[in-house]
Amino acid sequence: MTKPEKPLAAAGLGRREAMTTAGLALGASLLPLAPRRARAADRTQITFASANFYGRETIAQVVDVYNQSQSKVQVTFVQLPPPSSSTEVHQALVQQLARRNGTPDVFTQDVIWIAEFASAGWALPLDQYFGKSVQDQYFPGLISACTFQGKLTALPWHVDSGMLYYRKDLLAQAGAQVPTTWQDLTDTAQKIQKSGGAKFGYLWQGKQAEVLVCDMVEVVASAGGAILGPDSKTVLVAEPPAVKGVQFLYDTIHTSKISPHDVLSWDEEPSRGPFTSGEAVFLRNWSYVYKIAQDPASSSVVDKVGVAPLPHFPGGKSAACLGGYQYGVNAHTQNREAAIDFITWMSSPATQLRFATGLGLAPTRPSVFDQPELIQKQPFMHTLRDVFVGATPRPVTPKYPQVTLALQSSVSRALVNGNVQDELDRAKKRLTDIVG
Ligand code: GLC
Repeated sequence: MTKPEKPLAAAGLGRREAMTTAGLALGASLLPLAPRRARAADRTQITFASANFYGRETIAQVVDVYNQSQSKVQVTFVQLPPPSSSTEVHQALVQQLARRNGTPDVFTQDVIWIAEFASAGWALPLDQYFGKSVQDQYFPGLISACTFQGKLTALPWHVDSGMLYYRKDLLAQAGAQVPTTWQDLTDTAQKIQKSGGAKFGYLWQGKQAEVLVCDMVEVVASAGGAILGPDSKTVLVAEPPAVKGVQFLYDTIHTSKISPHDVLSWDEEPSRGPFTSGEAVFLRNWSYVYKIAQDPASSSVVDKVGVAPLPHFPGGKSAACLGGYQYGVNAHTQNREAAIDFITWMSSPATQLRFATGLGLAPTRPSVFDQPELIQKQPFMHTLRDVFVGATPRPVTPKYPQVTLALQSSVSRALVNGNVQDELDRAKKRLTDIVG
């Protein structure tokens, strides 16, 4: 049985009333899923709310391993919607954290919420628990993503980034290389579609949802552009590289027709389905897809899938949107030591390896990336390490929730009406009001 990395500070562990209702009196959208277990009266009870990721194991099962590994803390997992429902997960957390009543004690936060939760005073600064020597064990870019105004307010869980999945067999039959430019991708996709090798050329996520901003960041950055400048105030969303990127997305549906019209209503899973059932040449998605593609129970393309960095425009560089989730401790928890002990275990090398091999969630510690077990079970993670580490962040601002809604609606409209410059000009005005 896995042991916690460091023993729980015996003193100072506040007891909490048995939480028959405490952790469960969460908003209606928060569904407690952990099986009812006999709870030793001397355990500190804490709640852990997270978007729910799926794989060979569930998060609830991993939490259970922690519960059984020690006898001082009992964690109840509160399941939030899946990460593709980013807006809903965000709403559920904001409703709870804004009450400042300490529930949930621990939560997970998408990388885009760190600035907002920190600036609202909802996330406990963690520097005193995780000093420099601990922070040095993670990729530096992720520690900086977890740091707001000089304070570490999140502890890395897993890193994610957009990547290109391709059918090795179809490319070989067509005598094509893995594309490095968007034009190569378009040409190869069209060639294979025409020859009847696949129904769809390129699948991506055009639904008016958070993932649309991720797909947008990638094409825009691959043309050398960005949404905001490095000062997080200069709005670059209507500049030529941004227009070029969004125009490319429009063209995949309406001009080159390598993407079906349906991508406009697809987020991650709907776009993944036709790829793993063998109907598409290329797919943009996150790292979780590899495990599914290699599982005969859910895939008809086992051993036929390769993973590569996303293409770019001539003269530009491949870009992957930085995604992933981090642990946060509620600034109002009455169970700090228990919460810290739990996230220490959840972010430990052993648990990160477990999440990587069981749920396809890439580690945030370089040491775990190099573990032979990871290289064997998730070979693409090791190969694409630089893609994860060099991923491009979405705008970093406490006002991100407003920024994303403005982008989602403008880009959605542009993808339907094709007035890319006009819609991005409108987005620029809205973003200038929000962050200016
Ligand atoms: C993934 C990413 C997350 C992103 C979300 C969008 O879960 O890890 O950062 O916001 O997808 O759907």
